[in-house]
Amino acid sequence: MKLLVVGAGGREHTLVWKLKKSSHVSEIFWAPGNGGAEGLAKRVAISPDSVTELADFAVDKRIDLVVVGPEAPLSLGLVDMLEAKGIKAYGPSKNAARLESSKIFTKEFCVRNSIPTGLFKVFTDSVKAAEFLRSSEARFPIVLKADGLAAGKGVIIACDLAEALAAVKAIMVDREFGEAGSRLLVEEFLRGEEASVMAVCDGENGLIIPTARDFKRALDNDKGPNTGGMGSLSPAPILRDGDLPIIKEKIIDRTLGAMAAEGSPFRGTLYAGLMMTAEGPKLLEFNARFGDPETQVVVPRIKSDLFELLAASAQEGIKGFRLEVSDEAAVSVVAASGGYPGKYPKGFEIKGIREAEKQGAIVFHAGTRDNNGIIVTDGGRVLNVTALGGTVRTARESAYRALSCIHFEGMAFRGDIAMEAVERS
Ligand code: AMP
Ligand code: GLY
Repeated sequence: MKLLVVGAGGREHTLVWKLKKSSHVSEIFWAPGNGGAEGLAKRVAISPDSVTELADFAVDKRIDLVVVGPEAPLSLGLVDMLEAKGIKAYGPSKNAARLESSKIFTKEFCVRNSIPTGLFKVFTDSVKAAEFLRSSEARFPIVLKADGLAAGKGVIIACDLAEALAAVKAIMVDREFGEAGSRLLVEEFLRGEEASVMAVCDGENGLIIPTARDFKRALDNDKGPNTGGMGSLSPAPILRDGDLPIIKEKIIDRTLGAMAAEGSPFRGTLYAGLMMTAEGPKLLEFNARFGDPETQVVVPRIKSDLFELLAASAQEGIKGFRLEVSDEAAVSVVAASGGYPGKYPKGFEIKGIREAEKQGAIVFHAGTRDNNGIIVTDGGRVLNVTALGGTVRTARESAYRALSCIHFEGMAFRGDIAMEAVERS
């Protein structure tokens, strides 16, 4: 089978690494890929946003399955386009991907279908939003979100009225997140611990894959700005055995049933970002794709053939698929460019990847480039150093031991990924 994987980050390197292990897979093309492609996949110089070019490439190369990593090509209709050309694809249609591309669509969908989520209000007018925030109805802290895709950055948690008004101005007036700011979502602040639960779906059935926790803030102790993720841990430490059937029934299955009934059956990865509150799990957000950096800890724990699962989702369905999962824990720590998530320089040589691998870690590339055999930094999040272990403690120790072998100018990382889970266990 010939595959095309779309995307350039650590999530896609992980998918390519795992798919390459399948006995069904003969060749992987990776558009555009990153410095981790050596020995796994052929890089193709097409951007994930250039959906027409990607579809033409898939037809030309007679690709058997296209696996779409990031959200942008999904919301641009890549999967619809491929299907129209007779090419199988793993991922949701443009309509089904609205679960990620519009936060307001999702909130209203949750209310219509009794899917547990926090209270919210929608505003299209900054004056009305400010009026509400000044009223006695508003409770602080309060959460303000731009409606569309804002690369994980369009979320502001305001501690008081002044911060909330500043957020309204930033989102709706100054349009700091672009057009995403034409509609504003104001949400109840939910208390609890977060967990990421992903299900591989075929339009009707969902199969929950290992759970995870990601660490979004830039600095230790959850300080500093939000990032695309500075590390991850699987399984999610907050989840107990009894939680998953509830999450499956109230969130995953209800969503799949309602999406099908509303004419947009969901195929692909349904990612539920949850807050485990005193009243049970509540949905913070859906993503219509694998999470990053959750994939870097979830996929290495999957023992089954991932190609078989993704192909089943795109074709005959996943009913009856038996997923084998390792009992080991996995921890992944991001090595980032100094300055990320703000401005940062690129092009620095990365040393010590081989040494880190010799320590037993898997080094997934995110923002890297192969410069004639020399791997250099090429993005904010550069590497995801991942390790498995019999306990969270041993997985964490291996990941950090391996990370200590790696060097590049300005390298930044969090020292406390998965620490709380170790202390608790
Ligand atoms: P989102 O992009 O919607 O997942 O939001 C990014 C992060 O902001 C989440 O992972 C949470 O840490 C936080 N967050 C978002 N919405 C809420 C909420 N309603 N209550 C508390 N924290 C939230
Ligand atoms: N880790 C959250 C996301 O992928 O959006």
